[in-house]
Amino acid sequence: MSTSGGADLVIVANRLPVDRIENPDGSPGWRPSPGGLVSALEPVLRANDGIWIGWPGGADGDTAPFEAEGLDLVPISMTPQEIEEFYEGFSNATLWPLYHDVVAKPEFHREWWDSYVTINRRFAERAAEVANEAATVWVHDYQLQLVPAMLRELRPDLRIGFYLHIPFPPAELFQQLPWRRQILEGLLGADLIGFQLSGAAQNFVRLVRQRVGHKTHRDVVYLPDGRTVRAAAFPISIDSAGYEELARSEEVARRATEIRDALGNPRKIFLGVDRLDYTKGIYARLRAFAELVADGHFDVEDAVFVQVATPSREQVEQYRLLRDDIDRLVGRINGDHGQIGRPAIHYLHASYPREEMAAYFRAADIMVVTPLRDGMNLVAKEYVACRFDNEGALVLSEFAGAADELRQAWLINPYDINGMKSALLDAYRADGRELTRRMKAMRKQVMEHDVAAWADKFLTELAAVRPSHGKSVRP
Ligand code: G6P
Repeated sequence: MSTSGGADLVIVANRLPVDRIENPDGSPGWRPSPGGLVSALEPVLRANDGIWIGWPGGADGDTAPFEAEGLDLVPISMTPQEIEEFYEGFSNATLWPLYHDVVAKPEFHREWWDSYVTINRRFAERAAEVANEAATVWVHDYQLQLVPAMLRELRPDLRIGFYLHIPFPPAELFQQLPWRRQILEGLLGADLIGFQLSGAAQNFVRLVRQRVGHKTHRDVVYLPDGRTVRAAAFPISIDSAGYEELARSEEVARRATEIRDALGNPRKIFLGVDRLDYTKGIYARLRAFAELVADGHFDVEDAVFVQVATPSREQVEQYRLLRDDIDRLVGRINGDHGQIGRPAIHYLHASYPREEMAAYFRAADIMVVTPLRDGMNLVAKEYVACRFDNEGALVLSEFAGAADELRQAWLINPYDINGMKSALLDAYRADGRELTRRMKAMRKQVMEHDVAAWADKFLTELAAVRPSHGKSVRP
């Protein structure tokens, strides 16, 4: 687009791909936003020349479109109270835990819901303003489930897609939500609703039949006004070739060696990389590793664990509690098992650029991804994409969407500590041939199914749902 004009593709997601920050000299700057949604969608936006509507983080009221890192961005502002009620509250203390198997207890507050409605309307109105006639608007994730219906009301000419990046819960859990019907009706404003896995799409269709009473057949919902809505699985991915290229660079190779040296060149390096979130299973994974050390399977000369935890949602109580729990656990494990200059766990509470992460992926022998529930988990795919040497082991939770595709990982149940310990040990002891066999198969999957193919498939099928309306956009 031009910042003044409209666009044929509009991406609407709660977060902009960059966060506004203040540089050390006080001038305004930008930093890439955390999380899988942004890392998946940024290349899609670049390839399509669209615009992205989202929140820049923080509470300043600027709503003028701007360009950052070559992307056309339209900011949505929120007051401190709206951030508290819509973002920290309804999005991240109600929907997030409810959609992730209630691994934390969801809170239901009527003021939070009111704020959710207000902010969803703000996004819908902004999208209605910037979308060209018959444009495609692609709405993303759990923070914005009312936008499709609100937007259709304002702009019936648009083709509207919705994609949920996180799991969609089974009816037994979704039913708890006092506003369950409004959420379902909000989503039904879209022409096509995408989920990570087919089980999630089926959960949704069944709920629509039971709770809203619409007719459904397989993955199609028939609305009383004659419109149809499709709900199907589109497992998301990453810019696989981009990661591989990065991992192959000399700088990354050099940095990977530096990291190994800094860790004292242990025989094996275990690595975890996550947003610091209670769904990620960080606590159980560190315990499993510590028990292996305590049981005498290896010591700090043989193996260390590096855990990178990106700060996330720090104002939400459950996240604060988690941080304290992890701090305490790491302290205890290092107190029990570390040696001078050689902790058992190297814990980094920070966010790093892609290049640095690629170096960690190259340096690590065993990547440990153990969420209690996760929509996809792109870190698992990033690790695989970086291992062009066909080495490295992946230990992966069955409860991550990625486990459906990465069958050759060491698959574990994160609630089963003994099972996790034996998988970590198997991965630690695996010989080169075994590692190569598994990694080759996983690489084939990740390299052949990248994020461009994901977006292409979604947008092509979106165009097919309503062939008579709107222009189609192709990546
Ligand atoms: C996950 C969610 C995204 C979210 C990201 C980071 O990937 O699916 O919608 O943006 O986490 O979380 P945050 O709350 O910082 O935006």
